[in-house]
Amino acid sequence: MQHIFQKGTDPSKPTLVLLHGTGGTEHDLLPVAQIVSPESSVLSVRGNVLEHGMPRFFRRLSEGVFDEKDLIFRTIELNEFLNEAATKYELDRNNFIAVGYSNGANIAGSLLFHHQGSLRGAILHHPMVPRRGLKLPDLSGTPVFIGAGRNDPICAPQETEELQTLLTQAGAHVTVHWEQHGHQLTHSEVHAASSWLQSHINQG
Ligand code: MLT
Repeated sequence: MQHIFQKGTDPSKPTLVLLHGTGGTEHDLLPVAQIVSPESSVLSVRGNVLEHGMPRFFRRLSEGVFDEKDLIFRTIELNEFLNEAATKYELDRNNFIAVGYSNGANIAGSLLFHHQGSLRGAILHHPMVPRRGLKLPDLSGTPVFIGAGRNDPICAPQETEELQTLLTQAGAHVTVHWEQHGHQLTHSEVHAASSWLQSHINQG
C-alpha cells in the first residue's frame, strides 16, 4: 500500500499507524502524530479505494452504509500490509497503535473487530460501528480512545456509545472524549488523545 514511513527517535515507543479520512492522503495526519507521540515511528498509509477520485480504505454503498465484503477484504489487506511493514522496517509488530480519523478510524475499528492482536491499541477520531452482528475477538486490556462530537451528523452520539459498548464487552478499555462540535477533528481532541496515550501506553 502507498505509505510514508518515518523512523522514530525512541524504539520503545509504539509505532503510530496513521489512517486518513475520506478524500485524504498519507500526509494528512503527520502533524497529529507529532502531537500524539513525537518520538514514535510513524507508518502512514493511503487507502486503496477511490470514490470519485477520493482515497478511502474500503468501499461504501452510500453515506454511512458500508460494503461489508469490501470492508472485510480491505481489512485483511491492511493487516497483511502492517505485517510486511513490521518486517521491512524492523518494527515490533505487537506495538502498533492506530490513529484513524473518520473512514480511517472505521478501518482501524474493523482491524479490532476482525483480527486479534492486529493492534496494541487505537485512537479513533469520529468512528462508526464497522460491522454489526459479529462476535468480536478477545480484546482484553486493549486500550482504545474514541474522540466524538455531540453534534456529529455522520456519527451520532448513540453510535459512539454502541461502539463503546461493543468494544468494552470484548474486554477493551475504552475512553470516550466528547467535543461539542461536529465531525471535524479538533485540536483539543488531538491533545486529549495525546494525554490519553501518555497515561495508557507510554507509561507502560
Ligand atoms: C465512512 O464512510 O467510513 C464514514 O461515512 C466516514 C466518512 O465519511 O468517511
